[in-house]
Amino acid sequence: MATSVEEILRNALSDVESASSLQELEQVRVRYLGRRGSLTAVLRSLAQLPERERRERGQAANQARQRIEEQLTARREALQEEQRRAEQAVRRLDVTLPGRYPLSGLLHPLSRATREICEIFIGMGFEVVSGPELETEYYNFTALNFPEHHPVMDEHDSFYIAEGRVLRTETSAVQIRTMEKREPPVRVVAPGRCYRRDPVDATHCHTFQQVEGLYVDRGVRFSDLKGTLALFARKMFGERVQVRFRPDYFPFTEPSADMSVTCFGCEGAGCRICSESGWLELLGCGMVHPNVLRNVGYDPEEVTGFAFGMGVERIAMRRWGIPDIRIFYQNDLRVLRQL
Ligand code: DAH
Repeated sequence: MATSVEEILRNALSDVESASSLQELEQVRVRYLGRRGSLTAVLRSLAQLPERERRERGQAANQARQRIEEQLTARREALQEEQRRAEQAVRRLDVTLPGRYPLSGLLHPLSRATREICEIFIGMGFEVVSGPELETEYYNFTALNFPEHHPVMDEHDSFYIAEGRVLRTETSAVQIRTMEKREPPVRVVAPGRCYRRDPVDATHCHTFQQVEGLYVDRGVRFSDLKGTLALFARKMFGERVQVRFRPDYFPFTEPSADMSVTCFGCEGAGCRICSESGWLELLGCGMVHPNVLRNVGYDPEEVTGFAFGMGVERIAMRRWGIPDIRIFYQNDLRVLRQL
């Protein structure tokens, strides 16, 4: 026999020790204990040896096989443990990693403000209606009692699209369309986009949103208007807000007024936001002009009503303290997500 059992054993043990993977270890096992393994060869050759030699060599070979098998098992367990640890390290959940935010949509602040405004009026028995953004001159001006040649009808203020057609300059036109279709009592709010040829600056934009309101019934009085709008202001801006009405002019209401609320910045004391006045103007309103009622076939001797119109941007700016109207239209997600 070319190699002694001791040598085979020594080599086998050292090979087992240096096997660095389960695969390598299996190769080692095959090399020594497999069908053609070197120790297997020794064991097979025993039969041909003389009695005495066979016993000695046989004992040595069997012991060697036992040692190698023990070492193989030990090494296999060690390698398996190592492999399990490595896999765990890869898979382990690291709770300190920053999370990935799922992309989800959200309502634009102007949509949110519009919805909030409408919800408040729905709570007071109003219904939400809408009208077209491309209006006829009749609905946008004439039926609303604009005197002929009123400056707002001038091309400088309105977008004329075609003969007699204009992008609505206010949602008030929806008042007319609603009253034409219904009999009093009418209690509606009409949110929507409006357009004016205003130069864009911090407080003006050619495209903006309004919510119009209208209540017509028997015996509607100016005190109803004040009570309704004061309640709206408290719901929108909080219980502590105060309101102030001042005379104004609109062709479609008589008398007309504007309503201001105490400034959110100083609560009435005076600050930069309100130009030291303590008040912020919020909306226009008034008692529906008898001519407007007549234009839709109502009898002003029988029914009266109030109307109001507010700019949604203005309310949202006040609500969230936004200094520039353009922010709403720049679609900067970093801003929109904060609101
Ligand atoms: N339409 C007016 C505007 O755009 C707002 C307004 C004022 C609407 C008085 C009304 C109202 O219904 O009665 O400035």
